[in-house]
Amino acid sequence: MNNLWGGSIAEAARALNSSIGVDSRMWREDITGSMAHAAMLAKQGIISQADGAAIQAGLSGILADIESGKLAIDMTAEDIHTFVEMELTARIGDPGKRLHTARSRNDQVATDLRLYTRGRIDELLGLVRQAVSAIHDKAAKFADAVMPGYTHLQRAQPVTFGHYLCAWAMMLVRDAGRLADARKRLNQCPLGACALAGTTFPIDRDSTASALGFEGPCLNSLDAVSDRDFCVETLGALSLLMAHLSRMAEELVLWSSLEFRFVTLPEGFVTGSSIMPQKKNPDMAELIRGKTGRVYGDLMGMLTVLKGLPLAYNKDMQEDKQALFDGLDTASLCLSVLAPMVEGMTPHRSAMRKAAGAGFINATDCADWLVEHGVPFREAYAVAAGLVHQGKPLEELTLAEYKAACPAFDESVYAAVDLDACVKRRRLPVAEQLAFLETFLKED
Ligand code: ARG
Repeated sequence: MNNLWGGSIAEAARALNSSIGVDSRMWREDITGSMAHAAMLAKQGIISQADGAAIQAGLSGILADIESGKLAIDMTAEDIHTFVEMELTARIGDPGKRLHTARSRNDQVATDLRLYTRGRIDELLGLVRQAVSAIHDKAAKFADAVMPGYTHLQRAQPVTFGHYLCAWAMMLVRDAGRLADARKRLNQCPLGACALAGTTFPIDRDSTASALGFEGPCLNSLDAVSDRDFCVETLGALSLLMAHLSRMAEELVLWSSLEFRFVTLPEGFVTGSSIMPQKKNPDMAELIRGKTGRVYGDLMGMLTVLKGLPLAYNKDMQEDKQALFDGLDTASLCLSVLAPMVEGMTPHRSAMRKAAGAGFINATDCADWLVEHGVPFREAYAVAAGLVHQGKPLEELTLAEYKAACPAFDESVYAAVDLDACVKRRRLPVAEQLAFLETFLKED
């Protein structure tokens, strides 16, 4: 028998019921949670000091043995909670059977999952920081590299590569804020809610909560065991993070193509073709883009599990972990590839500049010059549009051609349509953004 309630279960039902294949990764959180619970039971006199000590020793032994690889998790156990408790009782006998006093797997799993998610959010925040740092460094180096900015993927107005990259970093800074926000709200301890209605034993919920680094216990026991908002919030933050990564990835795919040639992606992040010798495919960027859908699916799956569930715990909720873990794994994998890929990419100033020099991205500046010389904007716009339609770069038009379009033009228009001057006059706040990012990177 390998379940905790003592009955038997049909083979196919066991396969459906079992969650150890997914939740075994929470072994550390499960053991830590049990240690905090057992310490509290002993402190409150609910179990004897001797039993408490035996449980602590047994659990630390299990922790050490799993860590060292000496103990393999038995995948025929129903879930990780069952495995740890059964292993403990096999090792220390009767005291092990007292561990589950004043606890249920319902508050136990909710606690484990919050602890696990909290740890993964901290890890993800570190990865977001690494990505922001890589983007910051590249932006600082190419702060003044002129490139075309786009709308509708049509060359629109000139910006710099540094300014462009800072836009990426801004997205990630907001993602970090959302993850930190989810972490703040999840940091309450379900332990003591027990199955759904608390317990008659004189437990101390504050002590378990603080031992596990939570802000305090969840106030409502029904809510404590049935709340999976933190899964949804985390997946929501991860979905938006992936949306951002996919947009960056798409630009890397475009920019590294021969058509753009704005960047060369680093060796190790591109693959060759099995048939076309000239190819350097941006597979990693494409996969980041492609995996975004997975995380959206995880979010939808999680929301759908929760829809219409009555209070309190329902077994449907066991499905929370697969979605959450997949979202966490996918996002951290993608971030850990994006950061070194950005760090190692080689931007090509001349290609960017060349693209900025064609496509009339200084047409607005030409119209603005006329406005500054008294021509109403709508008329100025029409004059500039007429010049663009002649098909000759605005820098190369003769003064006679300018004057034919509008007598208000004079020599000083050349300074206005000069690419570097166009960029300078926009006063793109790259230095301020870099300073903002440096502050973000210093915060903990
Ligand atoms: N494996 C279960 C889960 O992940 C643990 C909780 C089981 N609770 C119960 N009442 N059957 O949700």
